[in-house]
Amino acid sequence: MAWFLPLSWIAYVIVCQARRSLCEHPRMTADGISIRPAEEGDRRSLALLLAAVAEERNGIAAEPPIDVEGLAASWQLDGTLVARAEGIIVGEVRIDPSWMGFGEIGMMVKADWRDRGVGTALVAAAVEWARARGLHKLALSVFPHNDAAIALYRKFGFVEEGRLVQHVRRANGELWDLIEMGLLLR
Ligand SMILES: CC(C)(COP(=O)(O)OP(=O)(O)OC[C@H]1O[C@@H](n2cnc3c(N)ncnc32)[C@H](O)[C@@H]1OP(=O)(O)O)[C@@H](O)C(=O)NCCC(=O)NCCS
Repeated sequence: MAWFLPLSWIAYVIVCQARRSLCEHPRMTADGISIRPAEEGDRRSLALLLAAVAEERNGIAAEPPIDVEGLAASWQLDGTLVARAEGIIVGEVRIDPSWMGFGEIGMMVKADWRDRGVGTALVAAAVEWARARGLHKLALSVFPHNDAAIALYRKFGFVEEGRLVQHVRRANGELWDLIEMGLLLR
């Protein structure tokens, strides 16, 4: 039996190296929101969340119609962290690391879960995720009218680095600016 513990520990380490998400324990906030890496079974919920937020035509670049099945199938799970509460996904953040050492993030929270700290928990987890992978910076783009998102990012120390003028053409033909924000991690 003395050999069993060392062997099981080695197996644990090997599995964790191969599939980090299997071994990362969810972080739980005081109000019952847990954050964990996205899993295969989350694909459809993530796509439906994006489709619902796209319907708002306000905070994210995507607009309807969203191909939910296609999006679910192609969702990049590595780098996606999900927020769960009351058994459902209530938000997500995606960090896309570049070969240049920074990571780009995008996020959304289910409308009826906003202003309850879900976004804060997701950004905190994204910063931790990025630091753990040695990224030196997080970068993002946000529409200038998105006061809630800008307030959330500023709270974590993100600063405005520039403005892309009339950058995004919307379905109705309007051209929206984008603000570039960045957070140095070291
Ligand atoms: C932006 C978003 C992710 C924030 O998520 P959230 O769960 O509501 O965030 P939190 O509750 O943790 O925090 C929001 C912060 O913004 C503040 N806030 C909310 N609305 C605000 C407003 N209109 N003006 C200024 N600050 C505002 C809140 O008071 C809170 O700050 P606090 O923690 O100091 O009190 C969410 O609104 C969302 O998903 N929006 C639609 C998609 C989107 O815009 N994604 C970001 C694209 S860049």
